[in-house]
Amino acid sequence: MSRPRILVTRRWPAAVEAVLSERFDATFNSDDIALDTGQLRQALLAHDAVLPTVSDKLPAALFEGDAIRTRILGNFGVGFNHIDVASAKAKDIVVTNTPGVLTDCTADIAMLLLLSVARRGGEGERELRAGLWSGWRPTHLIGVKVTGKTVGIVGFGRIGRAFAQRCHFGFGMDVVFHNRSAIDPMEAARYGAVQLPTIEDVLAVSDFVSLHCPGGAENRHLMNAARFATMKPGAFLVNTARGDIVDEAALISALEQGTIRGAGLDVYEAEPSVPEKLKTMENVVLLPHLGSATEETRTAMGMKVVDNITAFFDGREPPDRVV
Ligand code: DGY
Repeated sequence: MSRPRILVTRRWPAAVEAVLSERFDATFNSDDIALDTGQLRQALLAHDAVLPTVSDKLPAALFEGDAIRTRILGNFGVGFNHIDVASAKAKDIVVTNTPGVLTDCTADIAMLLLLSVARRGGEGERELRAGLWSGWRPTHLIGVKVTGKTVGIVGFGRIGRAFAQRCHFGFGMDVVFHNRSAIDPMEAARYGAVQLPTIEDVLAVSDFVSLHCPGGAENRHLMNAARFATMKPGAFLVNTARGDIVDEAALISALEQGTIRGAGLDVYEAEPSVPEKLKTMENVVLLPHLGSATEETRTAMGMKVVDNITAFFDGREPPDRVV
């Protein structure tokens, strides 16, 4: 029997590509440049499985018509708001993701951003590399102590919890959170966290706000001008979730007006484009979507995709089915 024909839209860790080549008739995008809409449409027409990432936009229009050959989209990543899953489902296309394996590394990057903005790590590094450091002095690059401060978490899923654990047990912070559904207080206490009734309640008391909810239509611009205005004066924002959760124009205004003191960002509304204004702001730390970027995690993510599509083509239920 011929092996399923699969298209991998980007280069993946070598160990995972080796397994994919063994099991499937696999084509890799050797250029490793994001495919455009036409190429993605062709991929859906010509392959039994397409394995996209966050850099591949798959809107409803791509699923139109009867000629689609793809039966499963094995997404490399936990977030899948770049795929119109309702349209995929309507075409009986299964969509899977990679939950669990990137929890710790993404929480680490949120911690890195929180510490970097609080302690002015980016500014210090830029100054030193530019040869502008004139030596130690008591008033040089004074930041904000994190121990004893309050961090507010928006979205208390796996990554939000792992981040809460780091903040509370690792850095002695008080942790409050907002989550759409109620979390058992005993469960929240395992992460040193307390649920508050509304997002506004969280914003009003937090010295740092970190976003850990999904992206997509539901949470688009959840952090808008009105919400920035309710943040505690001098607070910081951290976003490692999805860029569209933050209205970047409103964020820039809040930073310019000093409503908030700084921001640490790993994700953007129109990646890989980043607003020029943000790049000029010293009190903003910018990373290029590195949340899950460790050898161990990227390999584990790839292996999860392998497990999902192997199960599917063996006639079993894929373990991480989204629709
Ligand atoms: C994820 O897994 O959602 C990462 O952000 C990469 O897509």
